[in-house]
Amino acid sequence: MMASRVRKAVLPVAGLGTRFLPVTKAVPKEMLPICDRPGIELIVAEAVEAGLTELILVVARGKEAIVDYFHRSPALEAHLEATGKLELAREVRRVGELATVMTMRQEEALGLGHAVRTAAAAVGDDDFAVLLGDDVIDAAQPAIGQLLDVHAERGGCVVALMPVPPDQTNRYGVIGGERVGERLTHIAVMVEKPPPAEAPSNLSIVGRYVLPGRIMRILAQTKPGRGGEIQLTDALAVLAAEGQAWGLEFEGERFDTGNVLGLLRANLHYALKRPELADGVRALLQEFEGR
Ligand code: UTP
Repeated sequence: MMASRVRKAVLPVAGLGTRFLPVTKAVPKEMLPICDRPGIELIVAEAVEAGLTELILVVARGKEAIVDYFHRSPALEAHLEATGKLELAREVRRVGELATVMTMRQEEALGLGHAVRTAAAAVGDDDFAVLLGDDVIDAAQPAIGQLLDVHAERGGCVVALMPVPPDQTNRYGVIGGERVGERLTHIAVMVEKPPPAEAPSNLSIVGRYVLPGRIMRILAQTKPGRGGEIQLTDALAVLAAEGQAWGLEFEGERFDTGNVLGLLRANLHYALKRPELADGVRALLQEFEGR
């Protein structure tokens, strides 16, 4: 397996989070907790574990809390140390040092493609990874690392794929192509949110991508598509038409933390993995059964 040379990751967290209103009026959805940490921390940790060392957060007005979270808080650390809460002080410091992040600001929520394009000056000509702030994936090998391995061998763009129930294709970017491995597809077409009758398959793109630097030039030419937004899928479709797109059905479990039930499901999953919480969660599940 070739080691990936990709070091940059773009994390677009500038969306409005309408599926989570009203809380997202004042709190970024990426900061909603999975147990005791914001979902975005799990995604940043995934990137770091996969060797991505230069993280670019694409933020918007009202998303400052996300940026603060990944910086140090010396006053808080000092207070915790002075009051003997050394364990907590270490944890707070660890999160502040998890990654070096730079931020770019998307002035208007014009779509995911536009958000990625906002990072162009920070990305330059380099190939880069994209991790969406509301797709949490629990995997033995980081999902983005699995994609980076494919990219090191094949180049082009690599997207994460997941089969979805056929009646849900209208919520995702959907691909069609030729299967070239147990989990790998050479993508021929990509369609953003097709109604089931128009979907080329039920293999849908979820929030992990490895992209070539030149996608920025393609995005600069991409016109608004479905919903009037500049769609990343439309730019990727250009690469697919050139035979330069691959899709990997990654190994791992994905949680859509951008809606209420998805976040609840993620909370149950991660709580059951924590020895100090698992028994309590099982007791709760029993208590609520049949209500
Ligand atoms: P979503 O459509 O899931 O996020 O976009 P949203 O727009 O925040 O949420 P809803 O649908 O209104 O509830 C996928 C990802 O793209 C980012 C979002 O933050 C999310 O991580 N995004 C989307 C941007 O950064 N900018 C945009 O203009 C749109």
